[in-house]
Amino acid sequence: MPENDHAGVRPRTAVLTRGFDPSLSVGSARPAVFRSSTYVFESPEAAEHAFAITTGKIKLPPGERAALIYSRFSHPNAEILEDQIVPIEAGATDAAVFNSGMAAIMTAFFTFARPDSSIVYTTPLYGGTTGLIHTFMEPFGVHGIAAPAGDAAAIDEAIRTAHNCCIVLLETPANPTLIMTDIERAAEAASKNPSKPVVMVDNTFLGPAFQHPLQLGADIVLYSATKYLGGFSDMLGGVAITKSHEMIQRIRSRRIMFGNILQPDECWMLDSRLPTVSLRMNRQSKNAQRLAEALVGHKHLSNVIYPTLFQDAEQKRIYAKQCEFPGGIFSLEFAGGKPAAFEFLRRIRIAKNAVSLGGVETLVCHPRSTTHSGMSAHELAESGVTDGLVRFSAGIEDWRDLLADFEQALAGI
Ligand SMILES: Cc1ncc(COP(=O)(O)O)c(C=O)c1O
Repeated sequence: MPENDHAGVRPRTAVLTRGFDPSLSVGSARPAVFRSSTYVFESPEAAEHAFAITTGKIKLPPGERAALIYSRFSHPNAEILEDQIVPIEAGATDAAVFNSGMAAIMTAFFTFARPDSSIVYTTPLYGGTTGLIHTFMEPFGVHGIAAPAGDAAAIDEAIRTAHNCCIVLLETPANPTLIMTDIERAAEAASKNPSKPVVMVDNTFLGPAFQHPLQLGADIVLYSATKYLGGFSDMLGGVAITKSHEMIQRIRSRRIMFGNILQPDECWMLDSRLPTVSLRMNRQSKNAQRLAEALVGHKHLSNVIYPTLFQDAEQKRIYAKQCEFPGGIFSLEFAGGKPAAFEFLRRIRIAKNAVSLGGVETLVCHPRSTTHSGMSAHELAESGVTDGLVRFSAGIEDWRDLLADFEQALAGI
């Protein structure tokens, strides 16, 4: 069976056939939305049994599903979504859904972090995740150790020397500089550390279509489902995906405490977006590649950052090794710095000046003054998030209209 075996069908079929039984939704071809906050037990014994399973007092027999109890624990739409998302992440067995990407990252951190330990993470990192490490994890005694994305020797050394290392978090490609980190090598370094850190990869930029961290040795893949999975800039969501049932159960037990499960309506929406993730991402990647390559050499641009334009031999190697396509994000470096970048943003007409990414409409933002404004001056200087950098998330519009729009905006600088 190719890739994963999901009851004998391939992932693109499994995403449409797994996890949903129409007979449980009065025959409806699409799942009903189950908004109930609580579920009725058949008997007091059944209630006792359900709680014994949820609290881990007794083990669920293989193949059996725990009875529904209360929607903060789980609910039918979360169960359907979690079943349907597994086949589109190569190597996955289990998933847990959250009400934002940050909720997924935070819950994964609090599941595996220990007091007096450390997290090794690549920089740059999404600003919210950096903030989580500095303002929440560190005061709880979990020391954050930054290692420059793409610098394999520095990452190896950081993992080797980290005291009581509990987590290695890689964000690759890095937001917004697209610097890539070799997932397999970092996972190898983690496996040699006696503390056996859990390797997590924020796969928001290239997954699930173009990069498969679980197959490269990662333990947990994290998503802001707000981005490509959701795909229409109309909802927030997050996902943690693993190849270990035991790991997802530990994460779910924290989710029960934090109460940050994705709500039924959003599960239903996200569920309907999954079968088109690869279609959308393919088109977005093609658009981004055409635009980035067409803009190379423009007099107002000192750099166009995109995987097919990488100059560095190591970056080219990592891209060739672990990515199937270059993806829908590119960044432009304006020679005139922040004034030129802002002038461009004021002049664009089709693309929208907004943070976030992965939607069907093209979005453009200035990371240094927005998404990454919380980084220290030192982190900004080290990570390449400069004053003149503008990040693009290509949508599915006709790329020729987008190019004409960018050219007129550039001409006005
Ligand atoms: C790479 C990355 N990870 C995580 C997040 C956080 O996701 P959310 O906004 O859904 O909480 C973002 C948001 O921009 C992101 O870009």
